[in-house]
Amino acid sequence: MSAAGTAKKYEPRVPDGIDVTRPSIARIYDYLLYGKDNFAVDRAAAEKLMESRLYPRRLSLANRAFLQRAVGFLARQGIAQYLDLGSGLPTSPSVHEVARAAVPGARVVYVDHDPIVVAHNDALLATRDGVITIRGDIRDADSVLAHGALTACPDFSQPVAVLLLSVLHFISHEEDAPGIVAKFRARMAPGSYLAISVGTSDGADPEMLAEATETYAGARMPFTLRSRAQILDLFDGFDLVEPGLVSLPEWRPGFNTDRTPLKGPTVAAVAQLRK
Ligand SMILES: C[S@@+](CC[C@H](N)C(=O)[O-])C[C@H]1O[C@@H](n2cnc3c(N)ncnc32)[C@H](O)[C@@H]1O
Repeated sequence: MSAAGTAKKYEPRVPDGIDVTRPSIARIYDYLLYGKDNFAVDRAAAEKLMESRLYPRRLSLANRAFLQRAVGFLARQGIAQYLDLGSGLPTSPSVHEVARAAVPGARVVYVDHDPIVVAHNDALLATRDGVITIRGDIRDADSVLAHGALTACPDFSQPVAVLLLSVLHFISHEEDAPGIVAKFRARMAPGSYLAISVGTSDGADPEMLAEATETYAGARMPFTLRSRAQILDLFDGFDLVEPGLVSLPEWRPGFNTDRTPLKGPTVAAVAQLRK
């Protein structure tokens, strides 16, 4: 048999306590972003999702590009502390890398409920001052906010940027996304910012959505889409910065932003807490 025939597929080391028999959102997203922190079960689920007309790889890349533009904007406003809720696996450039390009001492707390995110971030970021990852479920915002690590950073008496990027569509209506946002808003100092990117039902082709919903549920990634009105309600108490709530590629596009319209409508906005 040829050497190619015997070559083993690369599999990352499995950190303790990680279940590799079920796909995980974080690892599927990593695969869609061409990362290598994923396992066969995630790749199979991601390949299945890629058959849906939502084009999840294009969506994921557009979301990551939005993250870079939004965090770049926030850092240029002087924001020096970030709370990244549903942060995902480390993908370069990460929030702290983008923020530190403008604010060298910027501090970042990454929060995710998937233990693999904490394991990988700890391994990669252990030596970086002012960057920590905690395990937390944003559906229990009180516990996240009470986490011991958050007593020191961020300093909620100073402006902070709270990021909820591509995570709220994994929160069902019953789990109350507006209530979750309100808990964080209550701790934020005036002048703080909130950035959200999230799937919307407005403007979506119903047939395509039904097909995608079924595929995602099959991959154990059920999602909940919200209307534009429901998404705007999340920004209660905040003023949207220009250009408001728009499709991902339309939020302050750069010269290299791919502005081809997205098939799966995902919108994004950045807003400032009223002073
Ligand atoms: C699609 S990824 C987005 C990652 C990153 N925010 C970005 O935009 O590039 C969604 C992440 O949210 C995490 N997540 C989903 N539900 C969560 C919850 N209830 N609490 C905390 N994290 C959650 C997943 O584990 C995954 O890492």
